[in-house]
Amino acid sequence: MMAPLPLAVAACAAPQERFERLRERTLLRKGAQVHDLAYANAHDGPAPDVVAAIRSALAAGRALDLQYTPYGGATLTRRLVADQLSASLHRRIGWRQIVMTPGAMAGLNLLFRAVRREGHRDEAVVVTPCWLDHPLYLAHLGYELRLVPVDPVTLRLDVDAIARALTANTRLVVLAQPANPTGMVYTKDELCALGEVLREAPSPPLLVSDECHRDVVFADQAPMVSPAQHYDATCIVHSFGKSWFMQGQRIGYVAVSPAMPDAAMFAERLVTWCRVMGFCTPTALMQLAVRALLGRQPDLTLIVARRARAVSRLQAAGYDLVPSQGTFFLYPRVPWGMDDFAFAERLAEDGVLVMPAALFHHRGHFRLSLTARDADVDAALDLLCALAAQRLVT
Ligand SMILES: Cc1ncc(COP(=O)(O)O)c(C=O)c1O
Repeated sequence: MMAPLPLAVAACAAPQERFERLRERTLLRKGAQVHDLAYANAHDGPAPDVVAAIRSALAAGRALDLQYTPYGGATLTRRLVADQLSASLHRRIGWRQIVMTPGAMAGLNLLFRAVRREGHRDEAVVVTPCWLDHPLYLAHLGYELRLVPVDPVTLRLDVDAIARALTANTRLVVLAQPANPTGMVYTKDELCALGEVLREAPSPPLLVSDECHRDVVFADQAPMVSPAQHYDATCIVHSFGKSWFMQGQRIGYVAVSPAMPDAAMFAERLVTWCRVMGFCTPTALMQLAVRALLGRQPDLTLIVARRARAVSRLQAAGYDLVPSQGTFFLYPRVPWGMDDFAFAERLAEDGVLVMPAALFHHRGHFRLSLTARDADVDAALDLLCALAAQRLVT
């Protein structure tokens, strides 16, 4: 009965499946001794004020509060999100341009689906290293992928390389701002240059700005600029799970820039696709919680302290590392020319789980998530430093 996975889908899914097998083996062998810095789950638990807001949303108890909401989301939630986003983008976004989704994964699928044309050779440019499943979703929809790496030294956008990848068939350009896994926050100048290149493309594409980590930018960095401020045909994808330290509850949105040609029609089409796809409407409870939590800033104290410790210890030990400017992640270079999977496997032998760059469609780095508990982050750093020291003396 079961059909094989399409080859392009299987190829995109393979690195994470290989990593999952490593993770399972390590958990079986080491049990509670595992120091898990792989996924960005908040091992200290969710933010208490978010839990309180969800509790009171549940307790409010109006008869229809927990029933079906319309495709696209509850109007009041959409209105409040639109107001908040308008203030941060300095541009008026109408509530119809906000489509509520169960997290970013659904929002990305919705957008990729809405742009794909039947019977065409549609192409998508993805800036790599990228979030794990941008290529997977695109491959599933039959896009031809053009993976464009960031600058290998600075990890910043290589706008010239993006320009070279654009063709008359390019329908989408996908990036994350702030970027996962590098933790870079692209500057106004980079985004301005990107906007120029996209406007001059043979057929100007839709820019998908995945802004899941928009509230996780460190205070000593320049404030985050959205690519939507530099290119009209932009859609923003957001998920509240990161800044709530609660990734499993699945709530986010797609925002269609009001400057985009046919913005109103495009947003309406997204709502139609919500119905067609069937899995794109978030729970009523999470939509209620969003109303109470908009504008809240996450407490990044623990992340900032761990980042400072990790950057200074890893650099002192000789690791090549561009410090992150946002997100929960650090993305050091794998040392000694080792293969990134082989390096992750070596760390897993001692119970430390990190993600090799192959999962992000890139090479030569590994990602650490600073959402693990302090003790686990410190144990991982001890091991990384010990490995570097052994290597220096052998
Ligand atoms: C850049 C980026 N995009 C998308 C996602 C998926 O987000 P969600 O789980 O909220 O759907 C993540 C999750 O880590 C992410 O970091």
